[in-house]
Amino acid sequence: MSTGNGQATPTSSASAIATTIKPTDLRGILKYVPRFQGQIFIIAIDGSIIADENFGNLLVDIAVLRSLGIKVVLVHGIGHQLVELSLARKIPITNSDGTGTTDAATLDLAIRASSRVSHALVEGLTQNALKCATTNAVRALPVGIIKGVDQQFTGKVERIDKDFLSELIDRQVVPVVSPIGFGPDGRSLRVNSDLLAAELAEALHATKIIYLTEAAGLEIDGAVRREISIEALREILQNKPERLADQSRSKAEHAVKAIETGTPRVHILDGRIFDGLLNEIFSSEGVGSLVYGNDYQQIRKARKSDVRLIYNLTRNAVRREELIHRTQQAIEKNIDQFFVFEIDENIIACVTLYFYPDKPQVAEVGSLYVMPFYANRGIGKKMVDYACMVAKERGATTVIALSTQSFGFFSNVCGFEETTKDALPEARLKLYEDSGRNAKVLVKQLA
Ligand SMILES: CC(C)(COP(=O)(O)OP(=O)(O)OC[C@H]1O[C@@H](n2cnc3c(N)ncnc32)[C@H](O)[C@@H]1OP(=O)(O)O)[C@@H](O)C(=O)NCCC(=O)NCCS
Repeated sequence: MSTGNGQATPTSSASAIATTIKPTDLRGILKYVPRFQGQIFIIAIDGSIIADENFGNLLVDIAVLRSLGIKVVLVHGIGHQLVELSLARKIPITNSDGTGTTDAATLDLAIRASSRVSHALVEGLTQNALKCATTNAVRALPVGIIKGVDQQFTGKVERIDKDFLSELIDRQVVPVVSPIGFGPDGRSLRVNSDLLAAELAEALHATKIIYLTEAAGLEIDGAVRREISIEALREILQNKPERLADQSRSKAEHAVKAIETGTPRVHILDGRIFDGLLNEIFSSEGVGSLVYGNDYQQIRKARKSDVRLIYNLTRNAVRREELIHRTQQAIEKNIDQFFVFEIDENIIACVTLYFYPDKPQVAEVGSLYVMPFYANRGIGKKMVDYACMVAKERGATTVIALSTQSFGFFSNVCGFEETTKDALPEARLKLYEDSGRNAKVLVKQLA
């Protein structure tokens, strides 16, 4: 925290807040606290930032986040230290950021650099009275041969041991994750830390990734862009990548990947700025770049090619009688009613929206299902909200839902109210009575 003279304060996080934040700042911060409490932030720190003099201040800021109930996972890079070691020992390296080939000598230096950086983080967290742990939670696979070139010891993330990390987080321990993963034979593989942060965010259902780097943010057309949507950034990456500054490219690619796999926001900021991390999180302007997803971007209309996936997705819910059985043929026949939520080209949730020919102002939301791995991330609500939005766009004023086991979800989470079967259009009432399921009828008026 600031002491007014730009120096790090060797003190606990709580007293650091007390000495430096004005009441007006505090009010601003408190607005965000309930929103962020209990959420997981992945903080990805480039090796160069760990070597910077602001590193000590950053650790105090991280301690502040922890004291406010925000769960933090730290990922670090090693590019800067790897280059330093290579120069000091006069050992050439094949690559410094874990994206190209990693030969045996480079891997050896990368492991040394990583141990040093992890230790610096553990030491700094200890000085700030935070419990932390380095882990072997990242399972990697060799990238293999790309365009005829063997990438040797460069790895890609195969699996994150999310239960292990969640257990640490629940015990108030800050996991420190290094860019060295472990292959199937237990041997080390070099992984890019930007990618690692995106993978961790997906596995742990994080709400933010904060990349701390040596640039002021994402530089597009020669200037730092303060905010950009994932659609706009994806478009630039696909069609005009030269608009992005070289040092912004990896962060941009991984920000897009992270948002596509369910992380709502990615921040990229200069880790050398004093108080930058707290300002980025707790002020509406921020100091770096924010890449944000559209709430509904992962929802699309279902296609015929999705039929089998939808059938497989909902099978378990049908077994538990949460959903009505539909054959693949029935799903295909009504595919126009389905919307799906897609992550990495996998369908992880679905919902239907049906209009009654005899009562066009009423629409029914049904077949709502979210894969259990993705439960409690707001996807179910998003699907229902999206269906309600589409219903309204198509002229409906009322949406109904029938549910045997999730009526609490519709009423408590989605703003529906319980009603009687008399609210059903005539043709639907007959089907309802014939089914014998005795589902509760819920209704929502569209404002
Ligand atoms: C019900 C379902 C769609 C919820 O999806 P989800 O993505 O986990 O839901 P969200 O993340 O948007 O909302 C989570 C909230 O809903 C609550 N919730 C989930 N299922 C619930 C249920 N059956 N009854 C009451 N509340 C429920 C959670 O407790 C959580 O509450 P909180 O925000 O206060 O912590 C999902 O659990 C599911 O697919 N269930 C099986 C199929 C089913 O029953 N479908 C509905 C029939 S039409």
